[in-house]
Amino acid sequence: MVNDWVLEIGPAAEEELPAVASLFMESFTETFDHLFGSRWPARRASLDLFTFLYRVEPERFVVAREGGQIVGYAVTPRSIRYLWMQFLIRGYFLRWGWRLLNGDYGVRVFDLGGIFRNKLVFIRSPQNFRRHDAQVLSVAVAKEARGRGVAALMLDEGLKRLQAAGAREVKLEVRPWNTPACRLYRRFGFAEVGTTRDSQGEWAVMVKQL
Ligand SMILES: CC(C)(COP(=O)(O)OP(=O)(O)OC[C@H]1O[C@@H](n2cnc3c(N)ncnc32)[C@H](O)[C@@H]1OP(=O)(O)O)[C@@H](O)C(=O)NCCC(=O)NCCS
Repeated sequence: MVNDWVLEIGPAAEEELPAVASLFMESFTETFDHLFGSRWPARRASLDLFTFLYRVEPERFVVAREGGQIVGYAVTPRSIRYLWMQFLIRGYFLRWGWRLLNGDYGVRVFDLGGIFRNKLVFIRSPQNFRRHDAQVLSVAVAKEARGRGVAALMLDEGLKRLQAAGAREVKLEVRPWNTPACRLYRRFGFAEVGTTRDSQGEWAVMVKQL
């Protein structure tokens, strides 16, 4: 269907995070299947993750809207180390732990084994990339809006914001078989500097100077 809705790229509003969480889950089905099998956590868990990222650094959260609907998001934190610190200092691990035990996520601790195994493989794999602290953490575009440059526009905005915040280089991890994402990042001048892995397979690590 052809429409003349205007594409809008800009900072996210907190009320838009439920739509972002849904888009995240629709866009990474392979990863969810790998980590959780047939027992996916409720959207509430993804929403809590994005709410945390948003509240720590709202200015790193860019969305694309079309006809008032969210059709894409890009999260580009200034510092992954800072995020981890905030996760601990603000007590999110307690909050999430409580919600998990309370059944709010629709899964039991036991169902999260996939995440722990995944992180264990990641931590054990050679990590020579820690000095790159700014990161393209997550980007996704709704299926019906793909192939029209939406991701490119959001990434451009996210990288400009990072540069304005003083970041000099930015890192990302991408599955080598994710052709659209690899093409997107290469077009932006990201260069592969190595590989790492988790339980789902290899990540290509790419870096760009800002
Ligand atoms: C990766 C993703 C964000 C790209 O969004 P998009 O808005 O379609 O991206 P763009 O329109 O800016 O196009 C990006 C590149 O992908 C290419 N592309 C688009 N669809 C493609 C397809 N089906 N097969 C191969 N390449 C494709 C485009 O040609 C473009 O490459 P080019 O600049 O060399 O021409 C989107 O496919 C997506 O949400 N995928 C699922 C989530 C994901 O994998 N996120 C990235 C994780 S690192």
